[in-house]
Amino acid sequence: MHATRPRPLTARRNGPLHGRARVPGDKSISIRALILGALTVGETAIAGLLEGEDVLNTAQALRALGATLERRGGQWRVRGVGVGGFAAPAAPLDFGNSGTGCRLMLGAVGGCPVTAQFDGDASLRKRPMRRVLDPLERIGARALAAADGRLPLTLAGARDPLPIVFEPQVASAQLKSAVLLAGLNAPGETVVIEHEATRDHTEKMLAHFGAQVRVEPAGENGRRITLAGQPELTPAPIVVPADPSSAAFPLVAALLTQNSEVILEGVMLNPLRTGLLTTLREMGAVIDEVQRRTEGGEEVADLLVRGSTLRSVEVPASRAPSMIDEYPILAVAAAFAEGTTVMRGLKELRVKESDRLAGTAALLEGNGVEVEIKDDDLMVQGRGCAPGGGFVTTHMDHRIAMAALVMGLASERPVEIDDGSFIATSFPGFVELMCSLGAEVS
Ligand code: S3P
Repeated sequence: MHATRPRPLTARRNGPLHGRARVPGDKSISIRALILGALTVGETAIAGLLEGEDVLNTAQALRALGATLERRGGQWRVRGVGVGGFAAPAAPLDFGNSGTGCRLMLGAVGGCPVTAQFDGDASLRKRPMRRVLDPLERIGARALAAADGRLPLTLAGARDPLPIVFEPQVASAQLKSAVLLAGLNAPGETVVIEHEATRDHTEKMLAHFGAQVRVEPAGENGRRITLAGQPELTPAPIVVPADPSSAAFPLVAALLTQNSEVILEGVMLNPLRTGLLTTLREMGAVIDEVQRRTEGGEEVADLLVRGSTLRSVEVPASRAPSMIDEYPILAVAAAFAEGTTVMRGLKELRVKESDRLAGTAALLEGNGVEVEIKDDDLMVQGRGCAPGGGFVTTHMDHRIAMAALVMGLASERPVEIDDGSFIATSFPGFVELMCSLGAEVS
């Protein structure tokens, strides 16, 4: 699926950005729409699906498990097999670069009486799966050949899945979702108690398809999610809003280039995804919401972004779940702010598509910005401008790649990256969209 040839790219300063753009559909919602659609009885229509590699790999895995997925008339149609209805796949399921696709599908398969092999690319093979396998084994699945908890592995799904009460030790929507998806095929109630609320797309979409899901507050920042097992999921149309984690890149690019004025259309503003907007506004960013509305069950708005003067800020650890994918681009914004920005509690960044804490620090240092990592905190010394001129190694990480290119649009000298090909996992058309706004990336 992934093009094997690296795609080096360079971004350079080219005056203000202007215009309107719509970034592709949300990755989290797109992956969930395909998986839950495949567990309904009937046909689900999905508009605005992200056609990025991570999503397409999930689609391919679902086909191998017996669901029918096709693109027809500009929409995706998923014909499901029903809860518990997956068939054993003939070949290993390859999730490419996608942690979300792989972990959610471990859950979906873990609750069914089928055996499947799971694999991914060199980046995904390094990422921890034990956190997901442990609760799945309590539900009744068995993980084989996964001694160190990494891919490739074989999962024998539960013949008679048990409902469990699960308290994840890390704030992870992937982990929560895997357990809920496995719990779908268990009799009785599956409960996930999260100490810090994470993105709630799985819970919302389960309810959208007719499952009984109860969400209650738990502790100061947490939630208790209770799912009644063995529902019949009924197809219901899905509209995928624009991905705020993708919008973050043109948004910060517009903030950092003087006299820019850019409108990003229909960006999802689910409160569990808006930590970056909160932080940027605290830094002095001028971002207006135009036409706030609801689309497909989510709040969205057009974001009007203007070139802004930023000041440093301290980002509390409690905000991390709502902006977990946004730290590389926030760190770039911090380099152009005045003063020292402190980002706390970034432990989970070490196990993303790459070690993003190290990768973000290296990206800034290589472009003349002072940074420090202390325990799980990242400090960036902002000076209102940055020298640039660096060559950034992206370690198969789409967000490091895009953050580095945005840096190049605002720094004194161009920024070059070794490989932009992984951008296609989440944001196909990124380079073209940025260029349509006036950026120079090639
Ligand atoms: C995602 C959850 C987050 C995020 C990822 C998408 C999801 O991962 O980083 O890009 O769709 O559930 P974690 O659950 O590991 O924090």
